[in-house]
Amino acid sequence: MNDPYVELRRDLHSFSNPQEIRTKHLDMDLEVDFESKTLSGTVTLSFDETGAETLVLDTRDLTIHGVSTAAGEAEFELGEAQGYMGAPLTISLPAGTTRVEVRYSTSPEASGVQWLTPEQTAGKEHPFLFTQSQAIHARSWIPLQDSPGVRATYSATIRTPPELRAVMSAEMPDGGERDGEYRFEMPQAIPSYLIALAVGDLEFRQMSERTGVYAEPSVVEAAAREFEDTEAMMVAVEELYGPYRWGRYDLLVLPPSFPFGGMENPRLTFATPTILAGDKSLVGLVAHELAHSWSGNLVTNATWRDFWLNEGFTVYLESRIQEAVFGKSRADMEGALEVQGLEEELEKLELRDQVLHVDLAGRDPDEGFTGVPYTKGALLLRTIEAAVGRERFDGFLRAYFDEHAFRSIITADFLGYLNANLPEAAQAVDLEEWIERPGLPESASRWESDALAKVDAAAKGWLDGGALPEADWTTQEWLHFLRGLPEDVSTERLAELDGAFGLTESRNSEIAHRWLLTAVRRGYGPAQPRVEEFLIAVGRRKFLEPLYKALAETPEGKERARAIYAKARAGYHPISAATVDGILDW
Ligand code: BES
Ligand code: ZN
Repeated sequence: MNDPYVELRRDLHSFSNPQEIRTKHLDMDLEVDFESKTLSGTVTLSFDETGAETLVLDTRDLTIHGVSTAAGEAEFELGEAQGYMGAPLTISLPAGTTRVEVRYSTSPEASGVQWLTPEQTAGKEHPFLFTQSQAIHARSWIPLQDSPGVRATYSATIRTPPELRAVMSAEMPDGGERDGEYRFEMPQAIPSYLIALAVGDLEFRQMSERTGVYAEPSVVEAAAREFEDTEAMMVAVEELYGPYRWGRYDLLVLPPSFPFGGMENPRLTFATPTILAGDKSLVGLVAHELAHSWSGNLVTNATWRDFWLNEGFTVYLESRIQEAVFGKSRADMEGALEVQGLEEELEKLELRDQVLHVDLAGRDPDEGFTGVPYTKGALLLRTIEAAVGRERFDGFLRAYFDEHAFRSIITADFLGYLNANLPEAAQAVDLEEWIERPGLPESASRWESDALAKVDAAAKGWLDGGALPEADWTTQEWLHFLRGLPEDVSTERLAELDGAFGLTESRNSEIAHRWLLTAVRRGYGPAQPRVEEFLIAVGRRKFLEPLYKALAETPEGKERARAIYAKARAGYHPISAATVDGILDW
């Protein structure tokens, strides 16, 4: 078949050669050594027989001890390292090779692995380890074809100290009895960025027949309560877009240094503990990661240029889940907050990064991590929905997921499918403008929130000298109120709010973050100790980046930020540390 999109399908962020030979299955046997902060052992890659003479794998900071095939030791060459791309491992294949075993160890600095000391955990007694493979960090802990266009099943044996438990984005056929040796099977073919491992003092609580949560013992109870609506969310998506195809859906709550809010590792979402607000107000994140079981894990971006196919669809699905489970008002508030965030971001973003089908040539795919693939992507889908009607669009999406299940596709594949199956959409919406050009099209169908409009009115009343706002706002209303405070709001007015609502002491991470950002920008003294405490306790990049940037606005602030960072940095994940290094010229 002649594929007109060969060039667009090529993944610029992998050295591997899947056009010639494609991994079908990986089997790992790894020993976890907390002393040396290394994983070491073997990965065996299986292929269909091909005529390929070489196999090229991606690696980053790995030590390769040897490579063998059925014919014995194989010749290999580890190329020169090229920054975020890592180094190609080129293996010579004897004719007829279908299995290659690589013996290797990781580096303590592996970009996709974080090793935590006991002090960095909730329990303070045992060390902890977790991986974060998206976008191209799987290669820092497994030599493989690290491209989202390559899907493989996997299995693994993980050896740990006997008092710890290992979990992976896979089935645990032996039920996970704690004995220091764990076996995993992932029977569905997945892209490499979804391979994930965590090891620690983990307990499990069942929430429903097919949902549960893993966390450290002191956290697991609260987590199970916070996430108890997960089953209802699953039922809601299944009704809209078809069956959940991954067996169980569990969550793992990580220590606070986890650099993201959540990561959709199949069967086992990884989540930050900062969403445990106590009132379920931040579980939109669970809806988001769960939605990836359709948008992303089932239908995957084939290259990182097509990342919006993962995240834009997921933000759209997330909103539909929130609407079904918590009602339209909550979904509208959350959507409207996102769009505000996007609009603020677009003011600062380079034009080339405002494009959905972003050009990442020569760049680290982590640079594509902006609100554009997320919120602009979701707004495109909402705009199509508005044009063709919800019923028609729901049917389209359901068929889209079915048709492309367990496949990796590019933007052009989506457009082709849309043109063929929902031609009215292409008539009504300027897809070229949405997908290939910067900015947010005028016709975007935004979320509108009456509740947030009321917050604006209350805020205005207070700023004009009226009474303090009501104290019974939801988290989303608070976030909107805080974001809307005028840039020159006085510290007296901030003190008034703080006195009435205890914002400096808020244990809701999103509210605290918003408040502390204002406190830094306005130089509100009483909150400054909490700024430092927050920056040391939390490693979630989304919180760190704006706070450090706000501090770095003035020379004194920057000096203070550097002093805080000196204490905090060792506790941050490499991904977060890299971002803050850049802000503070570390
Ligand atoms: N898959 C992403 C996280 C990610 C993206 C990690 C790209 C590395 C590279 C995940 O689904 C996500 O989007 N998480 C968000 C939360 C969500 C509610 C918007 C996050 O971590 O902030
Ligand atoms: Zn996501």
